[in-house]
Amino acid sequence: MAKHIMSLTVNGDTREFAVDDRDTLLDVIRNQMALTGTKSGCNTGSCGICTINNAAGEAVLSCLTPALEWDGESVTTIEGLEADGQLDAIQQAFVEFGAVQCGFCTPGVIMSAKALLNKYPQPTEAQINEGMAGVLCRCTGHIKVKEAIRNDFRLRINKGAESGSGR
Ligand code: FES
Ligand code: FES
Repeated sequence: MAKHIMSLTVNGDTREFAVDDRDTLLDVIRNQMALTGTKSGCNTGSCGICTINNAAGEAVLSCLTPALEWDGESVTTIEGLEADGQLDAIQQAFVEFGAVQCGFCTPGVIMSAKALLNKYPQPTEAQINEGMAGVLCRCTGHIKVKEAIRNDFRLRINKGAESGSGR
């Protein structure tokens, strides 16, 4: 199958890739950039485990997204959440509230939570339920995940207070 050259910025790193019509963002991120934090679960758009964020901070299922359609775009993966060696507040919240068990779903769950919190910094229960409905975890049952999401705002405020900056 013919290859085409495309450009993609992942976590601020812009590179060119040779892709064919079948390649997805997940293929580029995992196989060409070796960023294996983003997992492949079902590869059919059902589990949410491959979730990354687009430039607007919205959730994107990378297994369903044809890479060529995203030529010139920017995305963030789980590897891009930390800044200056510091975990993002939602990552800290997952650790603090034990929202990780086997860890396989965790990158996709965190990137889904991040997209939710980008839209609703202090989400209601209904917004949390709706925002996390598309991502599956076979271990935690989402109870700890939701607790972590509820506490993200407090951790973020604390981080801001420590660093003298906001979000
Ligand atoms: S791997 Fe993409 S939705 Fe399951
Ligand atoms: S922590 Fe094991 S699948 Fe979610």
